[in-house]
Amino acid sequence: MTTVYLNGEYIPLGEAKISVEDRGFMLADGVYEVTSFYDGVPFCLDRHVERLRRGLACMRIPCDADILDRVSRELIARNGLTEAPTSMVYLQITRGVAPRSHGFPKEPVSPTVYASAKAWERPTPQRWSQGYSAATVPDRRWGRVDIKTICLLPNALATQAALDAGADDAILIKDGVAIEGSLHNFWAVLDGIVVTHPLTQGILAGITRSVVLEVARENGIRVEERPIQVEELSAAEELFFTGTTGEVRPCVSVDGRPVGDGEAGPVTRALSRAFLKRVERVKAGR
Ligand code: PDD
Repeated sequence: MTTVYLNGEYIPLGEAKISVEDRGFMLADGVYEVTSFYDGVPFCLDRHVERLRRGLACMRIPCDADILDRVSRELIARNGLTEAPTSMVYLQITRGVAPRSHGFPKEPVSPTVYASAKAWERPTPQRWSQGYSAATVPDRRWGRVDIKTICLLPNALATQAALDAGADDAILIKDGVAIEGSLHNFWAVLDGIVVTHPLTQGILAGITRSVVLEVARENGIRVEERPIQVEELSAAEELFFTGTTGEVRPCVSVDGRPVGDGEAGPVTRALSRAFLKRVERVKAGR
């Protein structure tokens, strides 16, 4: 039986109920985090907590972000996931329950905090090596996507547009720039240099992105944080995505055109190996 967390209680999933007046339901007025655990050991949980803290502050939702640390560890334990090779916790915090109005509630309300945990599976090495296809889709999100809000309709529509085009992933395009994926950060290898969009209010500061930047530098791989123009995609030697459950995910075709030789390339492989080595180090507590 799946145990979830709702407003201070650990309860069966089927018993978790929220009000229809919750501002998350009505207005997408909330933030969320997805955190991964490997063999029950949290990966970069402190960075997720800090990103959540910043998001809550930007949204002026009065809630202590440390709850992510406490609740996620507890949910992994309560759901028997301490031995799972790969698992994740989803946690969302909304402003709370109040009669629908665009302005914040006049009387203080308690935020609604919900979290769940589940196992996830890495693709087999064969599937990973084949890589994933992508379609370019206009980035129709709002101007503060650095805040990880639950307002994911544009991301969901972009993902579906990519799926409808027969692709696995979306690459969001704004003003001629390949910004990021609909649930991943996006990278290119151009003239041997690994390039990813700089941190602005127009992308999410991915935790996986931060780790991949670190391991690239540790391994002497040249990286540059600058916008990737759409015209550069066809000349890229390699493309890949990064994200909490996608880890390092090769992108081998864009809008039906192969990238490089059409399978996961050497730089993507090297960064994936380096990322997984970091995971092993964290698991070993080093
Ligand atoms: N997605 N960009 C976007 C738009 C995202 O939604 C995500 C994460 C990322 C990668 O961030 P991180 O490395 O911290 O997971 C980049 C989550 C996992 C999701 O919505 O399921």
